[in-house]
Amino acid sequence: PANDREQQIARLDWDGLRDSVAGCRACALCQERRQAVLGVGDTAADWLFIGEGPGAEEDLRGEPFVGPAGKLLDAMLAAIDLQRGENVYIANAVKCRPPGNRTPEAAEMATCAPYLRRQITLIQPRLIVLLGRAAAHAVLGDVGSLASLRGQTFKYREADGSATGIPVIVSYHPAYLLRTLQDKAKAWEDLCRARTLLHTATTS
Ligand code: URA
Repeated sequence: PANDREQQIARLDWDGLRDSVAGCRACALCQERRQAVLGVGDTAADWLFIGEGPGAEEDLRGEPFVGPAGKLLDAMLAAIDLQRGENVYIANAVKCRPPGNRTPEAAEMATCAPYLRRQITLIQPRLIVLLGRAAAHAVLGDVGSLASLRGQTFKYREADGSATGIPVIVSYHPAYLLRTLQDKAKAWEDLCRARTLLHTATTS
């Protein structure tokens, strides 16, 4: 049953998690992926960025955000003095590439959520940044438009609904920003707010 699977995943260490994701056949996305993409970075990071799902390049290389959107994400990180792998972990709502890079379905994100939740628990980030509406949907539940989510600060909730102290914010997905350059400044504002949030949480 689904619950057994969730409980098993909730007990995995990083090696177990990597193996489990690599061999996962829990939804149909496994049929067309080349490889599952767990995540990359510092497993004790303060910052956790969560995207939607692997694209073509990620599916080939086994690392999140290594294609064009990833280049922009790296620039976004640099703007707040962060670097991939240094105090930063990058993951996705789904670990397998949706065919043709379509948006993952709610059921696919729900099936993959125990993996993401386990990553969050193992990392214990000080801040979670959700990139785009799909990531927001996966982590916060079915919650309004991106415009209504930006600027708010949520608290990460465990699968059973219990609140943690981990702040969560939502910003634009870098692939969207590549198409909509005029919103870039707003994404930068979000990142600056994120940095302030993290520093406030760290020093209080
Ligand atoms: N877009 C995402 O959401 N995630 C990736 O890893 C790459 C592109």
